[in-house]
Amino acid sequence: MQTIFTDGLCIGAGLAGERAALEMAEAGFEVICLSLVPARRSHSVAAQGGMQAALGNCAMGEGDCPDVHFEDTVKGSDWGCDQEVARTFVDTAPVEMRRLAHWGVPWNRVVPGPKTYYKGGKAFEKVEAEEKSGLINARAFGGTAKWRTCFASDGTGHAVLYTMDNRAAQLGVTVVDRTEAIALIHDGENCLGAIVRCLRTGELVTYLARATMIATGGFGRIYRNSTNAVINDGGGCIIAQDTGLVPLGNMEAVQFHPTGIVPSDILVTEGCRGDGGTLLDKDQQRFMHEYEPEKAELASRDVVSRWMTHHMRQGKGVQSPYGEHLWLDIRHLGEEHIRTKLREVDEICQSFLGVDPVDSLIAVRPTQHYSMGGVRTDGTGAAYGLKGLFSAGEACCWDMHGFNRLGGNSLAETVVAGGIVGKTMAEFLAGCEVSFPTATIRDIEKREQERMDGLLSNVGGDGEDAFQVREAMFDVLDYAAGIYRNGTDLERGVAELQEIHQRSLNVSLKSNGLGANPEIALALKLPGMVRLALSVTYGALMRTESRGSHTREDHPERNDRDWLNRTLAYWKPGAELPLLEYEPASPSMAIPPGDRGYGGGKIISADEPKPSE
Ligand code: FUM
Repeated sequence: MQTIFTDGLCIGAGLAGERAALEMAEAGFEVICLSLVPARRSHSVAAQGGMQAALGNCAMGEGDCPDVHFEDTVKGSDWGCDQEVARTFVDTAPVEMRRLAHWGVPWNRVVPGPKTYYKGGKAFEKVEAEEKSGLINARAFGGTAKWRTCFASDGTGHAVLYTMDNRAAQLGVTVVDRTEAIALIHDGENCLGAIVRCLRTGELVTYLARATMIATGGFGRIYRNSTNAVINDGGGCIIAQDTGLVPLGNMEAVQFHPTGIVPSDILVTEGCRGDGGTLLDKDQQRFMHEYEPEKAELASRDVVSRWMTHHMRQGKGVQSPYGEHLWLDIRHLGEEHIRTKLREVDEICQSFLGVDPVDSLIAVRPTQHYSMGGVRTDGTGAAYGLKGLFSAGEACCWDMHGFNRLGGNSLAETVVAGGIVGKTMAEFLAGCEVSFPTATIRDIEKREQERMDGLLSNVGGDGEDAFQVREAMFDVLDYAAGIYRNGTDLERGVAELQEIHQRSLNVSLKSNGLGANPEIALALKLPGMVRLALSVTYGALMRTESRGSHTREDHPERNDRDWLNRTLAYWKPGAELPLLEYEPASPSMAIPPGDRGYGGGKIISADEPKPSE
């Protein structure tokens, strides 16, 4: 097996991976980023609405500061986040936005003078101040007290990723695309790189690294319906959990975005509602203000998605051949606004729905969007369980989102965390002497080659069809681990997933052609994907409360007395279920648990006595 040596190895070349790579490259280290796809097609490119940072430039952002952003983030998380991490994030985000401007990101800018904006479908006027002319502008997003989402039309991820990738090329960062890490190399204490499969030739290559990072994005594609790209199937989380040493944090915390289009589930940005778009039901009536009088369509995502689902359950959904949905209405924003500030939405509607949003309603439904859970790290990005392993971005749970992430906080997180974790890795590289135990590495190479060979030799047999096994996993997550959950369905779901896990270990291929073979890629990953699904479902079964996006109909209250904590899901060798441990949600609580101000629901406070047994 070919062996390649590097200082830093970033598994993933999206925004978090490349931002971290830049820090290491600037410090003089050799860095390689691995990517399933060309770097510029990483899922970061699909992010639309923007990045939250408290710049306070626009009139509707006046008075904003990191303290207000911090409060919004903690409330958004339903007090599930690590408040120290959230604090670091809000303080660093403004610096990163300005750095991105310096690197060339074409942010939308404040244009002085009177402007017409919309809230709840109604127009109002605001005057943008002359002295703010040309500063980075911001739009409204859900769950925020101020307008602070910096944006480049609705192609923010695209603009930032292209800028970042240019910079990575300038600094000599190597991106090896069409490669997939299938196992981490470790000696039980130190991470030493990864075994990597070339997706063109099918060959395995050993990458030895003094510091390794997982930045592979989310695991949305374990669900059938998701805004995520097909590459977001949890690869990084799988190889971390497979070590048996590195836990995944809060896997049951899965976000559903209110506006995926029907039936393809492609995202149309929250920026639509931020800019004044409204949600309508089958009678073309607004309804969100009835449930959330204060924030209406701009409550946090968990709350809006929950109310949309509730409203459809009340018979208010639009029936269609592609399933039930509601409408998003942005017609009143006007043609100029839609064709410029919402141009990707415009294009998506025209290309994938065949409608022009300037004069048509957009069919939407809540759909899986974001994984709050991921590789558990400390606040510097160092993974639990293995020295020399780091993580950042959606693949990671460091954990600034708790049980619900605010829109615009994750795209900003990719660059903030990427920068911080990249610095941590550069410091680690500067101070560490790593020795590579050849016998251990050879054993891991042999194990992985045998796994490949075993799979490739099983062609046309009577084993399972990988795609059908994945469908079975989708079915379970659909009924058990969606927006509303309950103990009965979760228990059944866990039992079924355990059977599906066994099936996933017995796949027969239709074809063992090595080059660009998606069946092999899926078959290799499938058992790990089912283990992720089990981590979500079992974690959700055990968490007998409702917090953020995790809504238990049989436990509707947020329970700070028993559940103000984070789930850690380990997978020990040969286990049939994840091993769950818990740790406090935050080492300190600058903002003590309280009411979010939206979403309603009962809270069992931390000092409420337990009912006597
Ligand atoms: O709606 C959006 O533009 C998505 C943003 C996000 O997930 O942060």
